[in-house]
Amino acid sequence: MESAVIQRQYDDVIASQYDQDPQNTTGKSLDRALSHLEAEGLFSSILPAMRVLDIGMGTGMFLQKLRSRSERPIEPWGIDISRRMADIAHQKLPDLVSAIDDGANLDDHFSGERFDLVATHFVTGFVPIEHIAPRIFSRLHAGGVWSFVGGTSSGYAELQRRARHPLLRLLFGGSTPDLQGMVCPKSEHDVVTVLEKNHFEVLMSETFEPELSFPDFEAFMEYGYHGGWLTPFIEELGLHRTKRWQQAILNRIVFPVVDHHSIVMAVARRRE
Ligand SMILES: C[S@@+](CC[C@H](N)C(=O)[O-])C[C@H]1O[C@@H](n2cnc3c(N)ncnc32)[C@H](O)[C@@H]1O
Repeated sequence: MESAVIQRQYDDVIASQYDQDPQNTTGKSLDRALSHLEAEGLFSSILPAMRVLDIGMGTGMFLQKLRSRSERPIEPWGIDISRRMADIAHQKLPDLVSAIDDGANLDDHFSGERFDLVATHFVTGFVPIEHIAPRIFSRLHAGGVWSFVGGTSSGYAELQRRARHPLLRLLFGGSTPDLQGMVCPKSEHDVVTVLEKNHFEVLMSETFEPELSFPDFEAFMEYGYHGGWLTPFIEELGLHRTKRWQQAILNRIVFPVVDHHSIVMAVARRRE
């Protein structure tokens, strides 16, 4: 997926509604990631201020939650491709130091800075984990920690099954866009493999599968399109331009749907 398309979608479609977080999937995932970091003792007040770099920090949801949960003071840094997402983050975190760029270009920013914690949360579908891993390694202090959260292609199994209905293929074109292009990695095993290959010690990993409930097409669009979870996929299919009669058909043959996402979480420490 082209970076310019992603940037436009976050600036124009997603930013203004991102924090509504339909179904609380982002909030629940970030809270869980924070609990894992807390269990590793990262928030202890006896430690000095924590320098945190959030790659794809979006509206600053993680950094804000981290600041309110950690007894340790937080020095927030971030990089994001969308200026509108970053503007919202700056409103919440006036001391945020940020760069607007593709996270893949991390080497061009924050020259000489090192961090105690680097976060990549729901961004490795856009910035490949294999590319970012060695760059994160070189930005962490020895013993510093990487918090990884990312959706896998095993998510939305029921939606993917229903999307294969022959009538939908007739209505929305013969081919179904590939979810693999938008979600990364494939599995927890793949994440752990990349982390270990890049000299990280994996302190914990898990696959979190929050339930999703889409009573109708409108609820699906609120989550998938404006919520940002499936925006590229939805635009590729043209679902954001569906006419009323097409929505009525979708509401008959696809919805309601109860499904689940599949989200890998890992905490990894940079080896000495
Ligand atoms: C799903 S949001 C996640 C935001 C935040 N990490 C969170 O968990 O709430 C993805 C974020 O990554 C940003 N993004 C997308 N592609 C990017 C890229 N190539 N480089 C940096 N940021 C990118 C988007 O603008 C958006 O803010």
